[in-house]
Amino acid sequence: MYAGFGISIICVLVHLDYVFLSEQGKSYDEYSLFRITPKNQSHLDYLSNLSKTTSGEYDFWLLTTSVNHPADVMIAPPVKQGLIRYLNTVKMPFSVLIDNIGEKIKEDKLSSVETPPALEFFAAYQDIEDVSDLIN
Ligand SMILES: *[C@@H]1O[C@H](CO)[C@@H](O)[C@H](O)[C@H]1NC(C)=O
Ligand SMILES: *[C@@H]1O[C@H](CO)[C@@H](O)[C@H](O)[C@H]1NC(C)=O
Repeated sequence: MYAGFGISIICVLVHLDYVFLSEQGKSYDEYSLFRITPKNQSHLDYLSNLSKTTSGEYDFWLLTTSVNHPADVMIAPPVKQGLIRYLNTVKMPFSVLIDNIGEKIKEDKLSSVETPPALEFFAAYQDIEDVSDLIN
C-alpha cells in the first residue's frame, strides 16, 4: 500500500519531468490530465484497453489494476469530447486534474526563475530521493 503510493508519486514526477523536457519538441496545448475511477470490471477492462493503445492519444501517468483505484491519464485534444461522452454513458467517475497541460507548463516556466536544465533535472532527482526516504 505504502510502496504503491510512493511509486505513483514517482511516476507522476518522472512523467512531469518528461513532459517539461520534451516541451520544445511538442506542444501540449489543450492536452488534459484526467483522474478516472473504475467502478466495476467493465470499466477496468475499458481502461486496460485504453492503456494498450499506441496511438499516443492516451498517456497513462498512473495505471489502475483494481476497482475504485483511479488512473491518471493525459488525453489528447481530438479524443477528449468522445471520451467524456463515453465516461458519462458508462457512469465512470472522472475529474479534471489539469485542464490545459500546455498552459500549465507555460505558467510554471514564467513563475520560476531561469534555471539551467541540468539544475532542474537535479532538483527533480532530489524530490524522488525524498519520496524514497519517506517510503523506506
Ligand atoms: C477490450 O479489447 C478487447 C480486445 O480487443 C475487446 O474484445 C473488448 O471488448 C474490449 N473491452 C472494452 C471494455 O472495451
Ligand atoms: C458497470 O457499470 C455500468 C454503469 O453503472 C453498467 O452499465 C455496467 O453494466 C456495469 N458492468 C458490470 C460488469 O457490472
